[in-house]
Amino acid sequence: MSLYFAPLTRARASMPGNVPNAMMAEYYAQRSGPDGADILLSEATPVSPQAHGYYATPGIHTEAQVDGWKQVTDSVHAAGSEIWCQLWHVGRMSHAALQPDGAAPVSSTSTPSGRHVYVDDSFERILCSEPRALETEEISTVIESYRHAAELSMRAGFDGVEVHGANGYLIEQFLRSGVNDRDDHYGGILANRLRFALEVTEAVCSVFDSDRVGFRVSPISGDLEADRGEHDMLETYGVLADELAAMDLAFLDVVESFTVGQREPGLDVICARLREAFSGGDARSSSGRPVRQYVAGGGFTPEDGERAIASGRCDHVMYGRLFIANPDLGRRLLDGLPLADPDPETFYGGGAEGYTDYPAWS
Ligand SMILES: Cc1cc2nc3c(=O)[nH]c(=O)nc-3n(C[C@H](O)[C@H](O)[C@H](O)COP(=O)(O)O)c2cc1C
Repeated sequence: MSLYFAPLTRARASMPGNVPNAMMAEYYAQRSGPDGADILLSEATPVSPQAHGYYATPGIHTEAQVDGWKQVTDSVHAAGSEIWCQLWHVGRMSHAALQPDGAAPVSSTSTPSGRHVYVDDSFERILCSEPRALETEEISTVIESYRHAAELSMRAGFDGVEVHGANGYLIEQFLRSGVNDRDDHYGGILANRLRFALEVTEAVCSVFDSDRVGFRVSPISGDLEADRGEHDMLETYGVLADELAAMDLAFLDVVESFTVGQREPGLDVICARLREAFSGGDARSSSGRPVRQYVAGGGFTPEDGERAIASGRCDHVMYGRLFIANPDLGRRLLDGLPLADPDPETFYGGGAEGYTDYPAWS
């Protein structure tokens, strides 16, 4: 079993340019090594200028960003862990203020999300701009931006990449029938709604071997129900998981909740269906790396994590917020040490406070 560090946006990239910096390298290194995570996911990382939706998130589409990420990957490797880049396109979850030439954000649809993003160093959230539905002919360009970002991720020293298919962003905007209102071959029947996710994953797998590619889903609706409608979660996510498993991906990262101690009704049935596809265990690629692993997380306490592993319903557990406040979470879990609470006030933006100043246990 490996301990995973969840992708966590912290909005501390150097501006302008959305460039990873030395403080970020220190933060990731603190959460690496024998006391930290075995495998770290980077914070969500926009694959192109159009893919940005929040201020000061580090991108992976310029040479300066590749150089910036090299410091991060080097520091994690020196500590003895792996780091994978989470490839992100926000789609309609953006504002014209962050888009090239102030254009409308793009999506599967022209319907706004009604969600809010922060676009400057005030970190105050404002309503997303009205999106523009991508023309069918444009979609290959967006897919190419993921492929290019995978190539840059490899050059930046990442051990693999995770396709961000969760949390209401572009891939999910194509997946869900309540959002995707297209009448071309990227909308309508399930096979069409899955097409974008699968073509992105194939593009990324043309750069990294599939045993170095993961995929994140969040088969939940929760407070986001209004803007993330899906009438058949079981079928949509079940067939998606089957298709991804057939590609022999390294893992499916399943966000099972955002809220500690709460799981949506019906979720266990969906997770069991995903587990059938990503049955993990000893499955290995021809180069001997694990494939079809199920990584569970989202609102997990250490006890939830232990139970999930013991029951065999997942192969690995991922923690997010606990890792923010406990850089040595691996050791604390192993030794049963007390856990510190993270401060939500310092989640997004700012400096070292609430970022690199959480101490290890002593
Ligand atoms: C500050 C913060 C930033 C997050 N950023 C991302 C992100 O960049 N990408 C992503 O897929 N999920 C993101 N999430 C969701 C987490 O990865 C995780 O799924 C969620 O926090 C629930 O897990 P936890 O209870 O272990 O924290 C974020 C969550 C928080 C609290």
